[in-house]
Amino acid sequence: MNKIPANQAEHPMMARRSHDDAARQRAVRTLRQRLLPKLAFGSREMYYRSVEPGMRERHDGRVVEDFREIRRAMMELPYVRFQLGTHRVIQELMYETLVDTVQPQLEELADKARSLPRGLGSLRLDPALKVPRYVTAVDIHCQPGGYAHEAFPGDVAAGAIYDRSINMYQSGAGGMTEYMGRAVIQYLDKVWPDFKPRRILDLGCTIGHSTLAYVRRFPEAEVHALDVSAPLLRYAHARAEALGFPVHFSQQNAEHTDFPDGHFDLVVSHILAHETASQAWPAILAESRRLLAPGGLTVHIDLPQLDEIDPYRRFIYTNETQFNNEPFWTAYRQMDLHRLMIEAGFAADEVFRDFTAVMAGRDAQKSSDAVAHSRQLGHGAPPGSGLGFAMLVGTRSAAEVA
Ligand SMILES: C[S@@+](CC[C@H](N)C(=O)[O-])C[C@H]1O[C@@H](n2cnc3c(N)ncnc32)[C@H](O)[C@@H]1O
Repeated sequence: MNKIPANQAEHPMMARRSHDDAARQRAVRTLRQRLLPKLAFGSREMYYRSVEPGMRERHDGRVVEDFREIRRAMMELPYVRFQLGTHRVIQELMYETLVDTVQPQLEELADKARSLPRGLGSLRLDPALKVPRYVTAVDIHCQPGGYAHEAFPGDVAAGAIYDRSINMYQSGAGGMTEYMGRAVIQYLDKVWPDFKPRRILDLGCTIGHSTLAYVRRFPEAEVHALDVSAPLLRYAHARAEALGFPVHFSQQNAEHTDFPDGHFDLVVSHILAHETASQAWPAILAESRRLLAPGGLTVHIDLPQLDEIDPYRRFIYTNETQFNNEPFWTAYRQMDLHRLMIEAGFAADEVFRDFTAVMAGRDAQKSSDAVAHSRQLGHGAPPGSGLGFAMLVGTRSAAEVA
């Protein structure tokens, strides 16, 4: 496998940056990746030194688990309000600098997206597709215009903004920002070492960055990726082609795709779950099951559920809903994933839960035990490290007739 640089690699589809934009973006990245963890460290100290003991005293020695009650107590601290306000301001500043970069080159980027593809993979758009309201109604995690805004035919701005945001948003995302795909592949290599998928599908692929990790790892496989957003898919297709990766992109709703039953050996998604509404996620799990060939695997990677992390992190995580335009985040984190997998058609012994030891791909790469353990879900919540990603895994028995 190619060595992946720690800093984001430039590629032909990326929006160009002026000297001043690059400097601003480096400053925002520093604030996000250096200041915010320090502020979080401070509020964690306050929680353990005073807030948690105070709550315990008021509850006759019982540890308070409910994130709403923890929130009420934490929000009384001016420091915490400053911490969360700063988080929001830095997020908005990040997108402000990215819009400044992308806005002057909208037409140029659209032209590039039209001219770069060289027929390695394909792009299938569906102008009649109704983009779900849970995608269009919010500027998700504050990205201006959200995922699906299209100012003119051929627009790719949503993709150009997203691409440059990843390395600011997530430290250690790596040169090609495919860290989450690599985390799933580490899991597959460790837990299912003989698994050799012939057809792979990535659901909610955005700009197809995680998708590319599968092309790298399984060069013989036919790799497909879908999303509901045309601007993202145009960008994703041109990006993959410019980088020399064959991927077949299509504009489809992951709740009900047009692929035949049993068409894929591997169906994956990366942080799609928490951005779907509560009716949509069960439908996507059922669709993943329908699409699996006998002997196939589905892996959905996201952050852990609330009952898999400590009470302080429950408070920190759920701020994403309150402060970062992630309306479905908290509801998703309370879903009973085991029950949903059974309702989606998986047998109880076909459902697994795993955790990556750390969040960022760069560290996961260093760690020989990036996947902490593999165990069946449904026998009490397994403890997550609280720092890593969590994988929801379903298998389809090889003996089963499709
Ligand atoms: C957080 S992003 C996913 C990030 C990406 N998978 C990665 O590897 O980093 C969520 C994506 O899912 C897409 N999406 C949301 N609901 C969808 C659905 N029902 N079907 C297909 N795509 C969907 C959004 O348009 C967005 O691009």
